[in-house]
Amino acid sequence: MMRAIFMNISLNDGLLAELECDALVIPLDDGVSVGKEVDLQVAAMRKSGEVTGKLGEMTILHEPRELAASRLMLMGVDDALDANHAFRMAGQAVRAAQKRKFRRLAIALGDGQLIRAVAEGCAYGGYERPKYKSDDSASIVEEILIVAPGADTVAFEAGRIVGESVNLTRRLVDTPANDLGPVEFADMAESMGKAAGLEVDVLDEPALEALGAGSLLSVAKGSARPPRLVRLSWHPDHVAGDSHLFLVGKGVTFDTGGLSLKPANSMEKMKYDMAGAATMLGAIIAIARLGIPQHVSCLLGLVENMPSGTATRPGDIVQAMNGKTIEVINTDAEGRLVLADALTYAVRQGATHLIDAATLTGAVSIALGAVNIGLMSNNESLQSHITASGREIGEQFWALPMNDEYLEPMKGDLSDLRNAGTDRKAGTITAAKFLEQFVDDTPWAHLDIAGTANLDKGLPNAPKGASGIAVRSLVRAVETWANGGLE
Ligand code: BES
Ligand code: MN
Ligand code: ZN
Repeated sequence: MMRAIFMNISLNDGLLAELECDALVIPLDDGVSVGKEVDLQVAAMRKSGEVTGKLGEMTILHEPRELAASRLMLMGVDDALDANHAFRMAGQAVRAAQKRKFRRLAIALGDGQLIRAVAEGCAYGGYERPKYKSDDSASIVEEILIVAPGADTVAFEAGRIVGESVNLTRRLVDTPANDLGPVEFADMAESMGKAAGLEVDVLDEPALEALGAGSLLSVAKGSARPPRLVRLSWHPDHVAGDSHLFLVGKGVTFDTGGLSLKPANSMEKMKYDMAGAATMLGAIIAIARLGIPQHVSCLLGLVENMPSGTATRPGDIVQAMNGKTIEVINTDAEGRLVLADALTYAVRQGATHLIDAATLTGAVSIALGAVNIGLMSNNESLQSHITASGREIGEQFWALPMNDEYLEPMKGDLSDLRNAGTDRKAGTITAAKFLEQFVDDTPWAHLDIAGTANLDKGLPNAPKGASGIAVRSLVRAVETWANGGLE
């Protein structure tokens, strides 16, 4: 059911007026001139106020005078065409073209500055969800030509790679759990990872038992599908410094809640509970394909959380890989049990820095909605580096406090820790404080993407479903890091 979608995107230096295409896309106002008559026409439309140039606004003119293009698509980008607006504008144009069954699209930019964002945006807008409809008549824009004077081909290629990686993440997240359990996810990660030049190591259940990963394993116990812990490593030849970043992802391929069963209402959404793992896989594949000179590894904790006669019971006490004992108060607080052992393993494997991503708490949606990723860290420079990387490309992170008082509810009675408090207060932060118990003193940042990994409604540049959020920020963060951007 998975299939790769190839959209032919290329740079082109032809004359705009002579480009034969179903539509020529122009961001307003990026200083692109398409010809005297059309320029005047557009100016008149703007003057009348009927075309405002607001981000998201799209005006289509048919048979524009003097142009070989069949249509002109005028895209609003607010006051300035920055990387975020360019990404969204390009994606919206591609998605609009796809809906209209255009085959050939051209996008004209004033210059080459934002070529990467536009290439990322085109790939993002061209995303196709996994196909399950019997009348599957895929419409896909066959060719996209980008005309951008002075555009750097390396930046263009990078944009395409990152865009494709984000779509890999989205495709995994959108795939239903009957087609994507821990083993299927691990197989996919292995083949995609190897194809990108990564070393891949898949730990199965006996290997996890030998490592003493009792916390992660306790989540898998109720499922007929065995767990996996996948490690992917990127060790390029020429690396400055000896830092080794580990990207750790929560990969609960389906979260029923276990014996602390979730209500039926919206439970189907919990196929997305592996979005953290899909995010980290997308990120490390992009990092490898871009050849970023930095040691990076990725750990995917893959389990299915099911209720059954073999499932972990509330009140059971399990022992994590680092020796700490945990009373499982609520089997629905399973993500932290998976991440606990994955984080310990990362520290043991020599991580100097850690970032995890997880659809960890419903509470993060209450706090931040779908607007910001919840960010929690034990290290200020890592925290601000991530926030700044997001700001560059238009993904928003909001740091939450990590005072030690928030650990109180997670302290055990019979055991060292408990996996849930007695009330819901500060649920996002108490979960993060629990995770912090497994990172030692390693600089670490936790991204709670439960509110942002899935779009409940479509956007101009995306259908509803997986958003692929955080992949681009993480790639950016590692790129600037490799250039000496992190202390
Ligand atoms: N995967 C969920 C987080 C989640 C819940 C995302 C609802 C979106 C909507 C996670 O495993 C979970 O169930 N968390 C619990 C923790 C609680 C039992 C301490 C939650 O947030 O309710
Ligand atoms: Mn849960
Ligand atoms: Zn979960």
